[in-house]
Amino acid sequence: MYILGGTSSKTITEDLSKELEQPLARTTLKRFPDDEFYVRILDNIGDEEVIIVQTTYPDANIVELLLIQDAVYEAGANKITVVLPYFGYSRQDKKFEDGEPISARAIAEHISLHADCIVTVDPHKEHILDFFNVPAYSCSATPEIAKYLKEKDIDFVLAPDKGAMERAQQISDIIRCEYDYMEKIRIDGTTVKIKPKNLEIQNKKVAIIDDIISTGGTMAKAIKELKRQGAKEVSIACTHGLFVGGAKEKILSAGCDEIISTDTIENEFSKVRAAPCISEVLLKNLH
Ligand code: R5P
Repeated sequence: MYILGGTSSKTITEDLSKELEQPLARTTLKRFPDDEFYVRILDNIGDEEVIIVQTTYPDANIVELLLIQDAVYEAGANKITVVLPYFGYSRQDKKFEDGEPISARAIAEHISLHADCIVTVDPHKEHILDFFNVPAYSCSATPEIAKYLKEKDIDFVLAPDKGAMERAQQISDIIRCEYDYMEKIRIDGTTVKIKPKNLEIQNKKVAIIDDIISTGGTMAKAIKELKRQGAKEVSIACTHGLFVGGAKEKILSAGCDEIISTDTIENEFSKVRAAPCISEVLLKNLH
């Protein structure tokens, strides 16, 4: 077996190689002067099982993945497993308006072309797994995030919207503290409103948990509300940290004390590793 990483998921690729005790495939990955991607596999992977690791964000990484899959297929691998630490486009999981694509399905179908199995971490909605034409499994980095938060003596976990409530409950069970959720109304891609709600958080260390932080708008609104209600410290944690369009500044100026994310999208806040939950699901489902 070989583990083969694209350029988007270096730490997870290396961690998986260590955890599964399988070698990294040697590759040449580069970009032509016009920015088109080039891949060449240097090891003989014919008749081997290959695990490709690549986050599909931003868009250029989707093309990388498709070309890596094609190279692995051409080299005659006997089984191709694709690990998508973050599955970009998963939020467009249905047609919200007439005339739109089902983007998650479109990307999933293309990835399925040269894949025997898919593994992804904390998908935005579980039903996106059905968009792949091959068996697809999810795993959750939430327990790893909970371990990190436990060390920080968090005494209240908050979901910024109902969609994240299960995640908040799971973390509160692990670190043994209270949890609650807020009601979020999304106005557009960058604007959200949080309905006021009284929480028992006076002088408490609160962690807000979500699957994705993108523009930081959701977190900034929730942080301000918690500080207004007297929280002593507010940390925020997510699995997938996109941090686009000045998100970091927005979150820090809202009064955030610590930003935490996993390494499904590598960034300066990747303090929690996603590889343990991925290797667990690989070991359970692949043999
Ligand atoms: C939405 O349902 C997700 O769970 C996140 O709450 C959302 O993607 C966060 O986006 P932003 O950081 O732009 O507010």
